[in-house]
Amino acid sequence: MKVGVLADSHDNLNTIKKALERFIKEGVECILHAGDYVAPFAMKELLKPGIRLVGVFGNNDGEKPGLRELCKEVHEPPYLFELAGRNILLTHYREKVREKLIKQADVFIYGHTHEFEIKEGKPLYINPGECGGWLFGRPSAAILNLESLEAHVVFI
Ligand code: NI
Repeated sequence: MKVGVLADSHDNLNTIKKALERFIKEGVECILHAGDYVAPFAMKELLKPGIRLVGVFGNNDGEKPGLRELCKEVHEPPYLFELAGRNILLTHYREKVREKLIKQADVFIYGHTHEFEIKEGKPLYINPGECGGWLFGRPSAAILNLESLEAHVVFI
């Protein structure tokens, strides 16, 4: 299964649309978001293609009830769950997660720094960088293959 990974989209509808176009082209079956959607209207945009979205809240997601009303699968971080036979650990702040939890994961996805990072191993570490592009002007996302456990960054 191919998965689209996002973080820190921060209300940027333009880059959200571009990321989704890329995900559709790649045939992703699920989107994982490491937090900081910000306003519910941004969540609405993320859900438009009808692809399943699993996410966690970030520090800028003040409107939690509004976000959750749109997407039931937005959780408090850290959130460990199974997808296509793999244990996925999804969070916003990487530093706040206990080592014991990280050890249970095949893939560890986080955001907040707005800087992309992929580190192979067990788990596979993925920060897709900032989808919103506000900080560094280089909006990015990641594509993750859950069969081969490979991931790469895409600039959008
Ligand atoms: Ni943040």
